[in-house]
Amino acid sequence: MSSTENAARALKSLKDEEWRTLAGLERASTGYGTPDLGRLSRMSRLPPERVRFAIEALERKGLASRRGRGFVLTRQGVELMALKDYVKKDLIFALGAIIAKGKESDVYEALTEEGAVYALKVYKIGRTSFTKVRRKRVGETAEFKSWVTANYNAARREYHALRKLEGLSPVFPKAVAYSRSTVLLEELSGVRLSQRPYMEDPAAAFRTVVESMRKAYSEAGLVNSDLSEYNILTNGSSVWLIDWPQAVDASHPNSGEMLLHDVKAVTTFFRRAYGVVADPKKAYDYVTGKSADLE
Ligand SMILES: Nc1ncnc2c1ncn2[C@@H]1O[C@H](COP(=O)(O)OP(=O)(O)OP(=O)(O)O)[C@@H](O)[C@H]1O
Ligand SMILES: [Mg+2]
Repeated sequence: MSSTENAARALKSLKDEEWRTLAGLERASTGYGTPDLGRLSRMSRLPPERVRFAIEALERKGLASRRGRGFVLTRQGVELMALKDYVKKDLIFALGAIIAKGKESDVYEALTEEGAVYALKVYKIGRTSFTKVRRKRVGETAEFKSWVTANYNAARREYHALRKLEGLSPVFPKAVAYSRSTVLLEELSGVRLSQRPYMEDPAAAFRTVVESMRKAYSEAGLVNSDLSEYNILTNGSSVWLIDWPQAVDASHPNSGEMLLHDVKAVTTFFRRAYGVVADPKKAYDYVTGKSADLE
């Protein structure tokens, strides 16, 4: 069972004092060093003997882990806090099936009370870096903190990029919320373009992709900078441009280079997979607004 599935299971079984201890541990984890029982007791406003009892339960459930005399949250603990956040805000009430396992994230279905489905993207950058490390050594706290930083930043960046893109075109998935290392997205039902699925009108799909890049650039001031057939989904007629955590501002000194890279990836793929021939230089000029037409 994955850390996210374990977290979802723990969501239903945690007692009040365990929640308070977990929340205290999370608050303490952003400070200096690893919190010991005394600090945890203050952070969670529980007597030391209650905290000891609760932290042991959290350890057994895989939500916290011992580091010398102190404690750290595990990835599962982090994901549990994120799930709890969404549930508290009435955004979701349960975790559904896994949709995809990526290099940097796992994506799950998340269910709303009304029966709708969202996609929950859970970042796992450096996925083995801190939970698998069993040996005690200096630097583990730093390792935990750098894991938190990388994953929390990715989720936050993706959320903010998608909010900037919202309303410009249906090709950009709507972002509902973000929390810790996760972002809650509109669910799309498509496959990656890299699988070369049958497309009703590949040339029209190519135009939509390039027009959307132009909208992202000129209206949201964003360049995806990791765009390729792996980050475009399709159902055969519609396309969606996903995966925005590394998006850069159009005003960034390297944005031109990034954009050219994206344009080349897209033009090369459409030519090879679907025989749609387009000049990358022309597409680039169209995206940046230097020319008014794609052809
Ligand atoms: N909003 C969504 N709705 C449905 N499925 C999605 C959604 N977002 C992502 N997915 C699925 O999850 C996969 C990975 O998503 P994404 O590319 O955003 O993450 P990633 O960590 O970069 O993955 P990878 O490293 O494999 O590219 C997608 O290829 C797609 O199958
Ligand atoms: Mg991707």
